Amino acid sequence: MSKRYFIHTFGCQMNVNDTLRMSEALKSVGYAATADFERADLIVLNTCAIREKAEDKMHSALGRYRQVKLSRGALIGVGGCVAQQEKSKLLERSPWVDFVFGPDAIGNLPQILERVGQDRVRVVDTAWVDSEEYVFPRADAETSRGKVTEFVTIMKGCDNVCAFCVVPHTRGREVSRPFVDVLDEVARLTRVGVREVTLIGQNVNSYLGGISFAQMLLRTCEVPGVERVRFTTSHPHDLSDELIEAFKVQPKIAPHFHLPVQSGSDDVLKRMRRDYTVAEYLERLARLRAARPDIAVTTDIIVGFPGETEADFEKTLQLTEAAKYDGQFSFVYSARPKTAALLKEAEWGVVPHEQKVERLDRLQALQKRISLELNSQNVGKTLEVLVEGRSKTDAARRFGRTPQNRTVNFDGDAPAGALVEVKIERASASSLGGVQGRMLSPAPVKIDEAPADAELCVA
Ligand code: SAH
Ligand code: SF4
Ligand code: F3S
Repeated sequence: MSKRYFIHTFGCQMNVNDTLRMSEALKSVGYAATADFERADLIVLNTCAIREKAEDKMHSALGRYRQVKLSRGALIGVGGCVAQQEKSKLLERSPWVDFVFGPDAIGNLPQILERVGQDRVRVVDTAWVDSEEYVFPRADAETSRGKVTEFVTIMKGCDNVCAFCVVPHTRGREVSRPFVDVLDEVARLTRVGVREVTLIGQNVNSYLGGISFAQMLLRTCEVPGVERVRFTTSHPHDLSDELIEAFKVQPKIAPHFHLPVQSGSDDVLKRMRRDYTVAEYLERLARLRAARPDIAVTTDIIVGFPGETEADFEKTLQLTEAAKYDGQFSFVYSARPKTAALLKEAEWGVVPHEQKVERLDRLQALQKRISLELNSQNVGKTLEVLVEGRSKTDAARRFGRTPQNRTVNFDGDAPAGALVEVKIERASASSLGGVQGRMLSPAPVKIDEAPADAELCVA
């Protein structure tokens, strides 16, 4: 019987996608996926270092997996951003870990396993390939069979220097994937039934893979079978006119823009090294909304960055009101190794934890009210929904998303992959509810709706 692997994924879309590439590398050397880590012969943690909490969660998971090593001799590997950051320190801290590999070493998994299994050595492979010589792992489209929507990596790394952020230290310099490879992958994905792709990178606006990012989006929309194109993440400073223009001319570019602002205070933004002011940010947002009036905008915000005063925080509340975000991901600031903010913390002043949490609660309550208000405006409307499968909360209902990326749970029988109209009857701050109407376009292939990605466990 073939050996079984289990991958536990933490973190962002980059990691979710990397997990797919890891599973392909493992399958190529005879491993099969299992959803039950207690039956695994190999357990891999694909880790995230963005906040201390993510790192803590990974260490407690690692403690659980130690038992599987003790009971059945499973191999344990740690990949992703904590692996890149901690390198051999992870082997010292957790003696039951067999190997540590960085995001650039996913393709080396077969060789790493050979060395661990045959030579009985512990391996650390965290070399970076920070140049155009880097070859992005090519997705096996079969991995995505059964999915309606899929991520496609277009670049890696980040050349920005945001003072709070660990990503440049865990993912290295920016390298763009050649656009022909991206388009080839998109075409292969549509052949197995994928209808929506999300182009991903830490900083997609600065894509340099042979054409501009705006052209990359337009070309992706032209791939036969592509219904919607999304992307994430963008830095506000290089939101170009060309990109705004692309939103105007190509309806397949989904009307949703995730534009992380981080703070509503110019003083804080300056210390964060975000190199835009709130006024500049709002001006770009206004141009985007003028180009595509139906666009939904979401953002990321950090509260309690060193030196953030009550007045600074109130400016974040004001910005949240002014920008009228459809949604936001907000976090309390977490000091990270090697970052500029960590070095300056004492000088700028640490915001006490209770104050950070109290501010986060206020911000989230405000955003919840705005999200509910905006979502409620959809009640009574008929929206176009790309069906992704059964509703997560009620298996008798269906689940999909609007072009604006709003989640819709609805009564109906449309299969995954179909594009349908849904009459909206209810709204909450996080989703919409309704009843299926007209079929706009049937699913291109029949999709088996058994839970896909049993090996994927996103934390
Ligand atoms: N590349 C993306 C961000 C990726 S990280 C961008 O620039 O927009 C996702 C989000 O995590 C960030 O937008 C930020 O809001 C949050 N984040 C990053 N570092 C953090 C830290 N040290 N503490 C708290 N939140 C952080
Ligand atoms: Fe981090 Fe800033 Fe790069 Fe985003 S743009 S990954 S926040 S350094
Ligand atoms: Fe986390 Fe690394 Fe993504 S730090 S957010 S998994 S790039």
